[in-house]
Amino acid sequence: MKVAIVGGTGKEGRGLAQRWARAGLEVFVGSRDAARAEETAAAIAGAGRVRGGSNEWAVEQADLVVLSVPYSAHAATLAALAPRLAGKVLVDITVPLVPPKVTRVTLPAGQAAALEAQAIVGPGTSVVAAFHHVGAAHLADADHAVDCDVLVCSDDEAARARVVELVAALGMRGLEAGPLANAIALESLTPVLLFLNRKYKSAGAGLRITGLPSA
Ligand SMILES: NC(=O)c1ccc[n+]([C@@H]2O[C@H](COP(=O)([O-])OP(=O)(O)OC[C@H]3O[C@@H](n4cnc5c(N)ncnc54)[C@H](OP(=O)(O)O)[C@@H]3O)[C@@H](O)[C@H]2O)c1
Repeated sequence: MKVAIVGGTGKEGRGLAQRWARAGLEVFVGSRDAARAEETAAAIAGAGRVRGGSNEWAVEQADLVVLSVPYSAHAATLAALAPRLAGKVLVDITVPLVPPKVTRVTLPAGQAAALEAQAIVGPGTSVVAAFHHVGAAHLADADHAVDCDVLVCSDDEAARARVVELVAALGMRGLEAGPLANAIALESLTPVLLFLNRKYKSAGAGLRITGLPSA
């Protein structure tokens, strides 16, 4: 399986890249600066098959693309890449935080970053929202098992199921959590987790869903 990560040089994208590479996936790290992506890929290439290049190049390499840039860069990045994303699955992991108040829920104009993404890329791209509750600190150490479920929502059921498989490759449980509109709830939970981290002096509060039959 091939995965491209736009903004894959960052904290979250790099962690995802190294874990997917270790699981045997082919990973394409994207950046605004191709050299930076090549450096990132080289730093984790020992774990598997990782290559780096421009964001545009990365998107061309895979039919599943993870968007991993700050919310402040979300709309502009997507608008620039939209033609290249046609016919692909876009996994939007963006949390629309408003620094410095990152422990307070603030809905963006389109109610959720993922809904805004779908409006920007159009119906020819299936947007899936996921990974909002997996902290980069957990992903950084590839030997560390992440004790967290990953809730996955999309209007495209096949794309949703595909991302649940990608979560399993990371060693976590992915759960289908309904249509893309549910990203409003998923994105809104991250400021709550950040508040819990601050309050209880942790770096890694996560979510675990109980009461489901074990898969
Ligand atoms: N960090 C976490 O624990 C965590 C957890 C769950 C979800 N998320 C979400 O994951 C996304 C990435 O988070 P992160 O912590 O990895 O962020 P980050 O390290 O601050 O940035 C990720 C990458 O985005 C690119 N970028 C930064 N500013 C940009 C701009 N103006 N235009 C285009 N690209 C830009 C940079 O890549 P280049 O400079 O190489 O282009 C950067 O390496 C965010 O939306 C965040 O809400 C993060």
